[in-house]
Amino acid sequence: KLVYVLNGPNLNRLGKREPAIYGSQTLEDIRAMLVERGEALGCTIEMRQSNHEGFLVDWLHEAEDEGAHAVLINPGAYTHTSVALHDAIRSIKVPVVEVHLSNPHAREDFRHTSWVGMAAKATVAGFGAGSYLLALEGAAAL
Ligand code: DQA
Repeated sequence: KLVYVLNGPNLNRLGKREPAIYGSQTLEDIRAMLVERGEALGCTIEMRQSNHEGFLVDWLHEAEDEGAHAVLINPGAYTHTSVALHDAIRSIKVPVVEVHLSNPHAREDFRHTSWVGMAAKATVAGFGAGSYLLALEGAAAL
């Protein structure tokens, strides 16, 4: 089972970026955790990160074209702004799981709307790096 894990803007700075909110693990640490858990679940992890919205749109389409089993996406701040990501998720059949390290609903008002969550199959938020592992387990079982 091929699982794409897409990460949006500023997540390349994980580990250094507001560690009180996002934790001290880097995106590479998270990738290694997902690969290990993926092996146990029979999932191959294709992990990507971009600060550019259009790349995330292209990779959602690619996941569908490559026959992925599921996509996990942490869209970063594009969560709260991107109609393009909303439409891209709706344009593919592969199930998409929205992932957040923090719980956006417990934070500033501008984080309370998720265009991605409105189109996604499911959302996992608030467990730090554990959100990715929980999302992978859920996605593997779909
Ligand atoms: C985030 C939450 C977003 O509101 C924020 O813009 C991020 C990270 C999270 O994983 O908690 O960049 O997606």
